[in-house]
Amino acid sequence: MKPKIYITRKLPDIVVTRLTEVCEVKMWDKEEEPVPREILEKEIQDVDGLYCLLTESIDKPLLNRGTRLKVVSNMAVGYNNIDVAAATEKGILVTNTPGVLTETTADLTFALLMATARRLVEASDYLRAGDWKTWSPMQLTGQDIYGATLGIFGLGRIGEALAKRARGFDMKILYHNRSRKLEAEEQLDIQYADKERLLRESDFICVLMPFTHETKNYIGAAELSLMKQTAVLVNTARGGIVDEEALYHALKNREIWGAGIDVFEEEPVSTEHPLLSLPNVVALPHIGSASKNTRLKMSLLAAENLLQGLQGETPKNIVN
Ligand code: GLV
Repeated sequence: MKPKIYITRKLPDIVVTRLTEVCEVKMWDKEEEPVPREILEKEIQDVDGLYCLLTESIDKPLLNRGTRLKVVSNMAVGYNNIDVAAATEKGILVTNTPGVLTETTADLTFALLMATARRLVEASDYLRAGDWKTWSPMQLTGQDIYGATLGIFGLGRIGEALAKRARGFDMKILYHNRSRKLEAEEQLDIQYADKERLLRESDFICVLMPFTHETKNYIGAAELSLMKQTAVLVNTARGGIVDEEALYHALKNREIWGAGIDVFEEEPVSTEHPLLSLPNVVALPHIGSASKNTRLKMSLLAAENLLQGLQGETPKNIVN
């Protein structure tokens, strides 16, 4: 008998076809709307495998309903949406999709850094609003990227890929990580710095660590107060790592210069969110890995992880 799986969002046909070869597949067939919790609660009772996105909270009460559930495959590298401890307790494998999105997410992180530093969105809006009357010396001036100091919090795959990009801009690169990465220090010509030094010395700070109990509000009022007044903060990791209220005040009072934000504490973020009222914020709707190729690779990798787990193999990207 084929194992049964539930997919929480409409996936590309090629992925569904692959899964259907091996499994009996049921799928929430909408692209732009997450599966309602009541439906997920019902569907999970009857399946061996769950293919989910970061928009679903796979918490303990939900896992408890999955009495025959063996694998949860998340189509994302981050898996803070899943209660991994509860899954482990129940012997459920959890998988994610690292590697395939590294370069694309580093591209977006650097793009957001540049867009914020050079006020691209504000400048484009200014032109479209008909405000461009003449060229003038200090009009829409931003911060230099070339030769500036970049500080990276979290030197995983994406952090290293970001450092490579920054090298091309002759940036001095500092990083802070739970453990030192001596090989990367040598290969990428980057320096380890303690948290305080990184905050004080960087012109650009990129947050690229996972969201855990330890990293919740990792950047709060105290950290923001150490940053340069000309500094730009970029977060393409997870919303909860930066305290949004503290960030709002720091930006509003020009204690720091700008922020590029791809991720929010609550997603989708409300258009009434105070951060969106500030001109020195470039805000994006969680598109770090959103290139056509990469999203396809992620969706296929998540399928392979699920199939491996269901077929009794150890999935390539197991997290527990
Ligand atoms: C996206 O945020 C991911 O974790 O893959």
